[in-house]
Amino acid sequence: MDLSTHQPAGGTVYRISAPVIANRSLPGGHRRIRLRAPAIARTARPGQFVNISPPLATTLLRRPLGVHRTIDGQDIEILFQSVGKGTKALGAVGEGDEIDLIGPLGNGFDLAGEPPETAVLVAGGFGLAPLYPLAAALEGKVDRTYLFAGTEEDLPMETSDSSVHLSFVDPDIKATVPEFEAVGAQCRLASLRSRPSFHKGLVTELVEKLLDGPEPLGRTKLYACGPWGMLKKTAAIAAEHELDCDVLLEERMGCGVGACMSCSVMVYGDGGRPVYARACVEGPVFDAASVVWDAK
Ligand SMILES: Cc1cc2nc3c(=O)[nH]c(=O)nc-3n(C[C@H](O)[C@H](O)[C@H](O)COP(=O)(O)OP(=O)(O)OC[C@H]3O[C@@H](n4cnc5c(N)ncnc54)[C@H](O)[C@@H]3O)c2cc1C
Ligand code: FES
Repeated sequence: MDLSTHQPAGGTVYRISAPVIANRSLPGGHRRIRLRAPAIARTARPGQFVNISPPLATTLLRRPLGVHRTIDGQDIEILFQSVGKGTKALGAVGEGDEIDLIGPLGNGFDLAGEPPETAVLVAGGFGLAPLYPLAAALEGKVDRTYLFAGTEEDLPMETSDSSVHLSFVDPDIKATVPEFEAVGAQCRLASLRSRPSFHKGLVTELVEKLLDGPEPLGRTKLYACGPWGMLKKTAAIAAEHELDCDVLLEERMGCGVGACMSCSVMVYGDGGRPVYARACVEGPVFDAASVVWDAK
């Protein structure tokens, strides 16, 4: 049921009471919840998010969660980790319960214009979830997509060993995410501790191996979502290789609609002067070259 709408620059935003269609538990305290929200399913772009009111008003503020998938123009799926009060309450909802949510919010990834020949997606932890709709949207538009994900815990999506050999990593590094492979992305995973089939080290080392390796890449663009340090390193690699790079900043948010400034990040404004931008309205996706990485 659409409760109300408003129309900011990024498109119509809906407030919806969305029935829960399914709520599935995944390893590592993750959950995948499917909600009936046709207005959002029809309009959400990759990288946009919904601001959810946890059931029974468990928290005063809503919680922002990326739109992980849209299904048949009817439903949206969110994929999240239960880390605190809000996400734990959300994880406890049952089929048929209604969730109050606002969205789609934020700018999302800019997919207008000429696509790159190679898209390299870089994820840290639950940064994987919002990159999935991007990989799906890029399928058929780019020549090749790579997804590199780093994590010390269970990932929010199933993993397995890939049968595809990638020339820039050792043959025993073969952990992959089948859901991303199903939308045409070649994947490899990284962890700082020894894990079978994972690259041992930083996820950004996989990016460097690809960029410095023998695979033909052509015009390449990086897209990243994850912790600040990982994003900063990805931005530095992009700058060093003179590549475009978009970063999705999952800043802590208050209102989610531009009113409270709690999600402010420092970016270079006109003439290179540092200014604050709101991750919920001007973001959450920013050109990595515009972010003042040392401001945190
Ligand atoms: C645009 C956007 C998209 C997001 N998409 C997803 C998603 O698809 N899946 C998902 O699992 N999470 C996502 N998040 C993070 C999610 O919003 C937080 O995990 C959630 O708000 C935590 O609420 P809580 O009440 O459960 O925890 P709280 O009690 O508020 O916090 C519990 C712990 O989580 C940490 N935390 C809270 N928010 C964040 C954050 N933004 N980044 C890092 N740590 C945080 C806190 O510091 C604290 O340690 C997204 C955030 C943003 C801004
Ligand atoms: S969360 Fe309030 S301005 Fe962004």
